[in-house]
Amino acid sequence: MMDMLFQTFRLGRYDLPHRIVMAPLTRSRARQPGNIPSPMNACYYAQRASAAFIITEATQVSMQGQGYAWTPGIHSRDQVEGWRLVTEGVHKAGGLIFLQLWHVGRISHPALQPDGMLPVAPSAVQPKGMAFIENERGEGELVPFLAPRALQTEEIPYIVQQYVRGAKKALEAGFDGIEVHAANGYLLDQFLCSSTNQRADDYGGSVENRMRLLNQVVEALAGIWGPDRMGVRLSPMGTFNDIEDHDPERTFDLVASALNEYGLAYLHLVNPDVPALERGTEPHPRALRMLDTIHKQFRGPLIIAGGFDHETAESWLQLGRADLIAFGRKFLANPDLPERFCQHARLNADDPATYYGGGAIGYIDYPTLAQERGEEPRIQIDERWR
Ligand code: PHB
Repeated sequence: MMDMLFQTFRLGRYDLPHRIVMAPLTRSRARQPGNIPSPMNACYYAQRASAAFIITEATQVSMQGQGYAWTPGIHSRDQVEGWRLVTEGVHKAGGLIFLQLWHVGRISHPALQPDGMLPVAPSAVQPKGMAFIENERGEGELVPFLAPRALQTEEIPYIVQQYVRGAKKALEAGFDGIEVHAANGYLLDQFLCSSTNQRADDYGGSVENRMRLLNQVVEALAGIWGPDRMGVRLSPMGTFNDIEDHDPERTFDLVASALNEYGLAYLHLVNPDVPALERGTEPHPRALRMLDTIHKQFRGPLIIAGGFDHETAESWLQLGRADLIAFGRKFLANPDLPERFCQHARLNADDPATYYGGGAIGYIDYPTLAQERGEEPRIQIDERWR
C-alpha cells in the first residue's frame, strides 16, 4: 500500500501533493537593523518548497510582540518587501507558504521592547528563565526575564489590532495563508492558561473568558483572509516558557470546540509528548487522551508536530491521529525531506549550534540528495552571508 504520507490532501483552499509539512522554526537570521527578511532567508525557504506547505518561523506582529533578538517582523514596509522576496522564491519553486503571526507577551525583555518598556502580558507573572537579547556589542546574550506589565482591559482591542495589521501586511507580502501562534507559552497561550492568567475582567477566570482574546483574533483575521486560508497552533499540556494550565483537558476541549466553529483550514498541535516519540515509545496515556479529546471536538484537518520520523509519522496517519505531520528539525537539515522520505534515503543530521543566529552555515548549506550525487552544485556561500 502507498504510504499515507504521500497521499494528496485538500487543505482549505489548497490541494496539497502529500502530507509532509514544514513546521515553524525560529532561526534568528533576519537582516539588521529592522528585523527584515533577506535574500538569504528567501533562499532558505525556497530550498524547502517541496513541503506540502511551509509554515514560516514565528514572526512578530509588532515591536511589542518581539521576544528574541533578530527574529523577523511583519509590521514595517521594509519587512513586507523582505517577505515578498521569500514568497516569490517559494512560489517560483512551486511551493506554498503560510506566515505564522506572533506576539510573545511576557517572553521578552525591555532590551527588545519599544522605548525600553516592560513586556506586556495578561498578568504580572514573571517567567522563570532567560530572555535572548542583543547586547551593546551587537552579540546575543541571555538575561533574566522580568515581571511583565499586566494589560489593562482598554488596551486589549489594540492587541487585536496588532494582529490585524500583521495579517493585512501578510496579504500584501504575497503569502498563501496565515497561522495564528497560540502555543508555547506566548501571549495568546498566556491568556489561555491559568498559571499566567490571573485576570478578574472579561479576559480571565473561566475558560470562556481566557479564550476570548484568541477568539477575537481568529474572528478578526478570518474577516481578512477567509478561514479557509488560516490555521491556529496550540500546545495542549505544554510547559515550554514556564506555563501551565490547572485543567488542560477541559481548557483545550473547550478551545478546540470553539475553534471548530470557524471553518479553519486546520488546527496545528504541538505533540504533548515529544520525548516518548523520540524514545520510540507510545505517548503517555494522558497525552493520547488529550489528543483524542481535541480530535473529537475539532472536525477539520489536524496537523501534529514534534519528534516524528518517517515511520512514526506514517503510523500516526494510519491510526487517524492526524491528517498531516509537520517536521521541524528534520526539515531544517534536509531541504528535500519529502524526496528523502519517498526514497527511504539517509537524512542529514541537524546541528543545534547553528539553529539561532549566524549566517549561511547551518542554514542554506544542508545538501539535497541531488547535490550529494554531484548533479547540482552545492550552494556557493556569498561572503556577505557569513
Ligand atoms: C524560540 O524562538 O525558541 C521559539 C519560538 C517560537 C516557538 C517556540 C520556540 O513557538
